[in-house]
Amino acid sequence: MKPSNFKPCAIAVLAAASLATAGLPDPAHAGDVGKGRHLAAAKCQMCHGLDGVSKLPQAPNLAGQVEPYLIEQMKAFHDGIRKNEMMSQIAPGLSDSEIQDLAAYYAAIEVTIAKIPGE
Ligand code: HEC
Repeated sequence: MKPSNFKPCAIAVLAAASLATAGLPDPAHAGDVGKGRHLAAAKCQMCHGLDGVSKLPQAPNLAGQVEPYLIEQMKAFHDGIRKNEMMSQIAPGLSDSEIQDLAAYYAAIEVTIAKIPGE
């Protein structure tokens, strides 16, 4: 397939679609939650919380986040595709299986919506 056959927007859509599925194992049982918790306690909790609730204004909540999304973002930091002062220091030191374990752990934290503004 020649890129010249595609309009730029079609290329962007194809790239996004292949990124979403590239190298992702079965998201339902990819990682080990127990190992992920251990890693999170050692390497992540000071910013993201062991409960996945942010401890820093710059850091996002991770509790209950979609697992394939967590894997994709950590891989992006790991590979330098996504950059951030803090995560770009941490993610390169994580192996693929550690990334899967961490994603499994943070995704497994149950979150409940108590109130939606305006309702
Ligand atoms: C020193 C603080 C710090 C530590 C430690 C840290 N992070 Fe982060 N993390 C951040 C910040 C800040 C961001 C937001 C990055 C940005 O703005 O792009 C972030 C972003 C992320 C994201 C992207 C979330 C999203 O919504 O896109 C994931 C996933 C993540 N971190 C996972 C981890 C994991 C897993 C660990 C432990 C191995 C970890 N982080 C350790 C500060 C930290």
